[in-house]
Amino acid sequence: MSYTINPDREKPWNGLPELPIEENYYRDLDILEQLGESKAAIAKLQGRSVAIPNQAILINTISLQEAKASSEIENIFTTDDELYKAFSDDPANLKQGAPKEILYYRESLWKGHRYLRETGSFDIKYFELIYRTITGLNDGIRKPFAQTHIRQGGSGPNAGKTVYTPPRGEGIIESKMENFIQFMNDDTLFPIDPLLKMAIGHLQFEAIHPFRDGNGRTGRIFNINFLTQKGLLDFPILFLSKYILQNKESYYAYLAGVTQRAAWKDWILFMLKAVENTSIDTFHKINDILSVKDAILHVLEKETEISRPDSLVEAIFTQPFTKVKHLTDKKLYAENTARQYLNRLHEMGICERREINGGHYYLNLELYRILAS
Ligand SMILES: Nc1ncnc2c1ncn2[C@@H]1O[C@H](COP(=O)(O)OP(=O)(O)OP(=O)(O)O)[C@@H](O)[C@H]1O
Ligand SMILES: [Mg+2]
Repeated sequence: MSYTINPDREKPWNGLPELPIEENYYRDLDILEQLGESKAAIAKLQGRSVAIPNQAILINTISLQEAKASSEIENIFTTDDELYKAFSDDPANLKQGAPKEILYYRESLWKGHRYLRETGSFDIKYFELIYRTITGLNDGIRKPFAQTHIRQGGSGPNAGKTVYTPPRGEGIIESKMENFIQFMNDDTLFPIDPLLKMAIGHLQFEAIHPFRDGNGRTGRIFNINFLTQKGLLDFPILFLSKYILQNKESYYAYLAGVTQRAAWKDWILFMLKAVENTSIDTFHKINDILSVKDAILHVLEKETEISRPDSLVEAIFTQPFTKVKHLTDKKLYAENTARQYLNRLHEMGICERREINGGHYYLNLELYRILAS
């Protein structure tokens, strides 16, 4: 099967070819070499993550970073401080705004993860679930004749010009989604390495562009959920969007390379490289967090009379900002003791006490530094 080139980027590309793509890509030596590196890196990350005593800790903080980076690709910005503060409060009380949108992203990541655990495979409901959670919208697949174009962003000479127009028309998105979903689920009919499937699948999903908004973020959540669904990782900890954010221009250019010129090779190499770099990066972050955590525990055990220091350390590594309430909710300490201990951490330079809107928050300085780096 040969890949048809999109004839006109202003017109809906109803000729978008179904998957799989041409066979020669699966035998391309550059792709295979990079695939080997990427697989090794993600396997190493998975190996490290199973050794973490309390996985919830890292997953909480790392998925928050993923949510922040992916949202920034779509120009939803917030400062780390604002985000961490929002994260340590009750999300139900949050006003609409960037921190809330980012928490929606994180919620979607988890909803998707659990959905796949329960159902075992991708289906259209999975994508609608992610889309709705992320955008807060209630509809589903785009209406057959709704106008949707992907335009060049930024302020350069081509800003505002159409880069690509996704397919539309009665039943067209539905049937392309069906093919895409079958490709992702069926490893007998499509026996292709999961990392290659993820790279190809992400592009196909963006090219179908089934929703009126949120396709970029939905597609990036899909990447991570796919990796856990295929067993490459136990938990959605790969922080892929950071790499995409740092290479945003390339991300758009390679997407357009496929939808305009069928340039699959560059796209696949880009995504495989993203997996390799991010796996290495996440691996180091996990190591750094664990060793700092151990060091702090050691100091508390040696230099203080704090009771249950291990639980206190677990608690301050569950999110960057800790509040007295976090400790009392867990029934760890009485309120006065909890406050006294957190103040002690502040005096020792482990946490920094901050007053925000009349409430006290204790920022875990080392955790904050590692996450931000
Ligand atoms: N040439 C292209 N071909 C296919 N998909 C593209 C192309 N250029 C960009 N995209 C995808 O479209 C996404 C933007 O679509 P959409 O607006 O629906 O998503 P979003 O998550 O809401 O992002 P935004 O908030 O920026 O609109 C990008 O993040 C990217 O994944
Ligand atoms: Mg959008």
